[in-house]
Amino acid sequence: MTTHPQLVLSGMQPTNVLHLGNYLGALKNWVKLQDEMPCLYCVVDMHAITQDTGYRHPKELAAATREVTAAYIASGVDPKKSVLFNQSRVPEHAELAWIFNCVARLGWLGRMTQFKEKTGKHKERASVGLYTYPVLQVADILVYKATHVPVGEDQRQHLELSRDIAQKFNSDYDTPDFFPLPEPVIMGAGTRVMSLRDGTKKMSKSDESDYSRINLTDDADTISQKIRKARTDPNPLPDFEKGLEGRAEAENLVNIYAALLGKPKSEVIAAFAGKQFSEFKNALADLAVTTLTPIAAEMRRLLADPAEIDLILQAGAEKARGIAGPIMADVKRIVGFVA
Ligand code: TYM
Repeated sequence: MTTHPQLVLSGMQPTNVLHLGNYLGALKNWVKLQDEMPCLYCVVDMHAITQDTGYRHPKELAAATREVTAAYIASGVDPKKSVLFNQSRVPEHAELAWIFNCVARLGWLGRMTQFKEKTGKHKERASVGLYTYPVLQVADILVYKATHVPVGEDQRQHLELSRDIAQKFNSDYDTPDFFPLPEPVIMGAGTRVMSLRDGTKKMSKSDESDYSRINLTDDADTISQKIRKARTDPNPLPDFEKGLEGRAEAENLVNIYAALLGKPKSEVIAAFAGKQFSEFKNALADLAVTTLTPIAAEMRRLLADPAEIDLILQAGAEKARGIAGPIMADVKRIVGFVA
């Protein structure tokens, strides 16, 4: 049994605008957790420079960091309740990541599927930072001794790594229970939102087709159009859950509806059993528009005052350093660094 007090940490990369997968898989749960335990939410700008995806221009990265911060707040993350900051302002993340680079084994990183997916055949040209990306993610979590990490399904392997690194550090330095073993919090029907064009692919910021995803900044017409054009099959909705097996696109739309509503999939199926997808898509479009358009409007309002966003990030970083500083001082002592 761990003796660590409950603490939440999670983060998102400021690369392109956030989409419905980010919202349903993570953000919606972040908002809920704020009322259950102390939470830290960061914008992981140091992770964003691991790939050459257009953020070589410093102004673009800074703008994306502010935009993601605005998306957090507009979705309901309250800077008065939660600590909200960008990763690069808290140098303890990088310091701990270096120590963890020396704890983690090459073989562990070699098994990370996200690295393989992101690099494909061009492994040799990937940055070293992209390879050790999961180690920095582990440092993000453990530099606060966070115990709970709300994420989408695709982050499960990175969280297993966080437990492996915590365990090896605790045992190598003979400091049992110094770091907690963080728990993934993967909950609701939207933990793996798929592309609207291909039910076998994850909804992603990097998909070339904008019709594959719903962006948090899309207007009502765009949202409705994307849902109406989403791929489905010719069959109506089934009257039991098993009837969605082998129908990836149909199942994805049902999951999205359930996640937006915050209800189990079975309730959605019960409500629409036997109905045609044309009718279901109209209901889904209405629900998505009602949920997402106020977020987009609030983001626009917040982004009109970038200085205010910077103040929130600065205040959050000070609070975050207040937690990370003493933990990092302990780590340095444990490792044998002389202050
Ligand atoms: P990122 O920026 O790719 O995604 C942010 C969050 O959104 C979730 N997500 C999805 N959930 C459901 N369906 C989808 N299609 C979908 N796409 C993305 C992700 O699971 C994630 O929760 N490595 C992380 C960022 C990170 C982090 C951390 C997370 C850095 N340090 C520490 C937690 C704790 C990432 O790239 O997420």
